[in-house]
Amino acid sequence: MIVPSADLRALRRSTPAAALMAAVLVLSGCAGSSLDQSGGTQPSATVKIGLLVPLSGVYAPLGEDMGNGFKLYLDQHGGKLGGRTAEVVSADEGEGPQTGVPAAQKLVTQDQAAVVVGVVNSATALGLRDFFHESKKPLLVANAGANDITGARKSEYVWRTSFANGKVSAALGSAVAKEAKGGVYLIAADYAAGREMVAGFRKTFEAAGGKVAGEKYTPFGKTQDFQPFLSAIRGSGAKAVYSFYAGAEAVSFVKQYQQFGLAGGTPLYGTGFLTEGGVLDAQGEAAVGVKTSLHYSTELDTPRNKEFVAAYRKAYDEAPTVYAVQAYDAAAVLDKAIAGAPGGGGAELVKALGGVGPVDSPRGQWSFDADHDAQQKYYLREVRSSGGTVVNAVLSELS
Ligand code: BEZ
Repeated sequence: MIVPSADLRALRRSTPAAALMAAVLVLSGCAGSSLDQSGGTQPSATVKIGLLVPLSGVYAPLGEDMGNGFKLYLDQHGGKLGGRTAEVVSADEGEGPQTGVPAAQKLVTQDQAAVVVGVVNSATALGLRDFFHESKKPLLVANAGANDITGARKSEYVWRTSFANGKVSAALGSAVAKEAKGGVYLIAADYAAGREMVAGFRKTFEAAGGKVAGEKYTPFGKTQDFQPFLSAIRGSGAKAVYSFYAGAEAVSFVKQYQQFGLAGGTPLYGTGFLTEGGVLDAQGEAAVGVKTSLHYSTELDTPRNKEFVAAYRKAYDEAPTVYAVQAYDAAAVLDKAIAGAPGGGGAELVKALGGVGPVDSPRGQWSFDADHDAQQKYYLREVRSSGGTVVNAVLSELS
C-alpha cells in the first residue's frame, strides 16, 4: 500500500516550498551589511538570517510550515528583528547531513548569515554541531530533537526552541503503561530521532511497569509499504503500539495501520509528529483515536493560542503546526536577542540569547534551560473528529 498522490498533495498543501522561501526573502527587505559585518558598536540597519529547512524530501512539508511560522512573526513585526530589517536567506536541508551540512556552511561562509535558524532532522543537527561551535556562529534549532546537541555535546553556540527527542517521548511512557492491556510494540524510523524517541519512551514506560512486546526500526525515507512490519506487530501479540514517524512516513504508517485492521483492537500511540498538521489532514478518519505527546496543539484553549491560530489561518488558509510554532518562537527569541546585542558578533548574540527570559508562545510560556533547550509543558493529545474535520484534542498535561 503506497500513499496515494492525492494524500501527498494534501500533505504538501498549497504553497510550493521554494516559492514560499522566495516570498520570505522578498518580504524581509533589502540587502546590506549583516550584524556580524558591522564589526563595531554601531548597529547595522539589517540583520541577515540563514533559514535552513528541508525544501525537498520526506520532511519538505515540515520545512514549509517552519518558513510560514518565521514569516508570520516577521509580518507581524514590520519585517524587523531587534529593530533591524531582517534579510532572510534560505537553503535546503534536504533529507539529512549530506545536504544539510554544506547548505549551512554556505549560509555562514558565503552568505554571511549572522545566525542560522531551522533544521528539521536530528542527524543534520548532530552533523552541524561542531561547525557552529568552531566557527562561533549561533545555530537556533527550531525542530531537530537530537538529545546530544543540548546534552552531552552542548555548545555555547547551539540553542533550541523545539524539544529534545528523549523528553517529548518520555512524557508519554507512564500514561501508556497505565492504559495498555498488555505488551507494547515499539516501531520507528531508523535514524537518530527514531532511536532516541523509542529509548526515551521506553525508559519511563518500563519504569512505570510497562512491558515491551517487540521493537523494529524501518528504513528512513524509503519505507512506503509497512505491511511486513504490521504483520510482525500482529504476530507479536502486542496489545498496543508506540511509534515515531513524521511527514509522509506518518501518513503511510497511520493509514496502513487502519487498513491492516490493527486500529480497532490495538491502540496506537506516538509522539505528536505522527498526527500533526497536513499529515493529519491526509490521514483523516484513519487517525481517530491515536494518542500522542507534544508541546503544542491547535486546540490549546488559551487566548494567546487562539489569536495565533486565527492569524496563521488568515495568512495561509490552514491551521498552524508545531513546526510553525517552533519557528515563530525562534523569530521571537531572535527579536529579543538581537535587540540585546548591539555590537553584533556571535559571542555577543549568544550571550543575549541567554537573557531572553520567558517566551510568551502559542504553546504556553517556555524558557531556555541551562543547556539551551526549551523547558516547557507536554500535553496528552487524542485525534478526534470535530465539525467534519480531525483535530488533536488536548486531554491533559503530562508530568
Ligand atoms: C528529528 O529528526 O529530530 C525530527 C524530525 C521530524 C519530527 C520530529 C523530529
